[in-house]
Amino acid sequence: MATQQQSVGWYGGIDTSRPHPARMYDFYLGGRDNYHVDREAAQQVISSAPDVVDSARANRDFLRRAVGHLAESGVRQFLDIGTGIPTSPNTHEVAQAVAPGARVAYVDNDPIVAAHAAARLLGTGNTSFALADLRDPGALLAMREVTRMIDLRQPVAVLLTSVLHFVADAEDPAGIVGTLRDALPAGSHLVLSHGTDDFHADRVGEALAVYRTATAELSLRPYDRVLDLFDGFDLLAPGLVRVPLWRPDGPPPGPDELASVGVYGGVGRKAA
Ligand SMILES: C[S@@+](CC[C@H](N)C(=O)[O-])C[C@H]1O[C@@H](n2cnc3c(N)ncnc32)[C@H](O)[C@@H]1O
Repeated sequence: MATQQQSVGWYGGIDTSRPHPARMYDFYLGGRDNYHVDREAAQQVISSAPDVVDSARANRDFLRRAVGHLAESGVRQFLDIGTGIPTSPNTHEVAQAVAPGARVAYVDNDPIVAAHAAARLLGTGNTSFALADLRDPGALLAMREVTRMIDLRQPVAVLLTSVLHFVADAEDPAGIVGTLRDALPAGSHLVLSHGTDDFHADRVGEALAVYRTATAELSLRPYDRVLDLFDGFDLLAPGLVRVPLWRPDGPPPGPDELASVGVYGGVGRKAA
């Protein structure tokens, strides 16, 4: 299944006229792979909702802990959808630190992520990148860049971290997750995080307006709606929680650290 060959999918022109969520997120994380239009939009979001920076970092830490936990539990295949502009440690770095042969297929619909993937995600031979859209999960699963890395007869961890809030209700996020779930064998996992306005609804209005000018709108969702996305999966302890509370490396975060994080996260296991 794994090959030493590396590849990226086809990608077209990069639109620098409108802010892109991937490049704005890169800016929140302190990255440099963003353009003026992204920085301007990201600064607007930060000035109205400064918590976005802590939320982005906490989300990234959640991804690292969740992937590390799954690799240590024996998971050897990871499908990371909406991967974002590479930011170390990336999924393959975490998984392969535990299991050098672990395979990772990265997927994103942003051409700039594809451009960076070629240089920064594909170095080990056990990774691939597909330029594909989560909103067409059947086509995504059939792409060669996915199938040559991921064997759907063996358990897979599917990562949907901070991506489903870019899928509108009308695009049926639960149906999309259901299609992915139905394609997975029992024992597979779903790693999911999702932005919410449960805590600071008063602060997010302007942020939502900024994202309306971007290439993908933001749909923050309440706890129960995020929980529904785990239909067909049994949540591992501690369940769906604000991301700093998911198996923290050290002592549990206090109220101050939690107060600035508006992202839920959890890991579910597909039952037999
Ligand atoms: C906020 S970043 C999250 C990056 C990473 N998953 C993480 O948690 O750190 C969201 C990413 O999802 C991608 N994205 C948004 N909508 C998508 C879609 N419909 N299909 C695939 N990728 C999408 C964006 O291009 C961006 O790279």
